[in-house]
Amino acid sequence: MITQLIIPAAGLGRRLGLQLPKALAMLGNQSLVARTLNCLLPVEFTEPSIVIFPKGYEEAFREALSEVPVAIQYIEGGLERRDSVKRGLDGLNPDTDIVVIHDAARPFPPLRAVCTAIDATRQYGAATLATPVTDTILTDNGTGCLGMTPDRSLLWSCQTPQVFQVDLIRQAYGDERNTGISCTDDATLVQRIGSPVKLVDGGVMNFKVTTKLELAFANYLLEQGLV
Ligand code: CTP
Ligand code: MG
Repeated sequence: MITQLIIPAAGLGRRLGLQLPKALAMLGNQSLVARTLNCLLPVEFTEPSIVIFPKGYEEAFREALSEVPVAIQYIEGGLERRDSVKRGLDGLNPDTDIVVIHDAARPFPPLRAVCTAIDATRQYGAATLATPVTDTILTDNGTGCLGMTPDRSLLWSCQTPQVFQVDLIRQAYGDERNTGISCTDDATLVQRIGSPVKLVDGGVMNFKVTTKLELAFANYLLEQGLV
């Protein structure tokens, strides 16, 4: 099986609120995107890995990733994450069977779970890392009041990597059932066309850096040698 990696890193990081795109924020002595890609290297993907950068930042990304010991293909991203991933899919090697899509914003991907997800994809066609929620989740009934309280034992918090047979994710992106819907992940697009997506527990350390709080927490974990 030929397995290629796509790292969507073309977001601007508005909620983080730095002058630079989030993927270029420093985590210890490396940028977030460099750390994330370095963490995944033991998986030994077919090269090149595809990094999706925000318009205007190609040189800055090449510089930030210059020390990563792997061939990288740089592709400019689009307005929404979905546009960025689509461009990455268009850039895959023609003979790639399985694609692993992992957000630059998750710097501590758990390797064992990533490999489990790749294995599961051979059987199911798609798999996503996710982790059972610990909070009770509420819905809004549309008026700012409590709508319903879904059974927590069925709720998972979505993560990446998400892993797909290439033909299946391409089909999901092209399917009319997915046109015009807003979606912040890719596994949902596969589920919406009726294909199963295996859930693999990625654990709480596979959190996403969204605000300054998570960036500070990630730096703390590194300083303390906890990751
Ligand atoms: N992403 C992308 N292209 C976009 C938007 C997002 O490649 N047009 C990527 C981000 O770089 C990130 C991942 O998708 O690695 C998850 O997105 P998110 O955490 O929302 O990051 P940002 O969009 O950068 O942050 P914000 O929503 O706060 O602006
Ligand atoms: Mg975003």
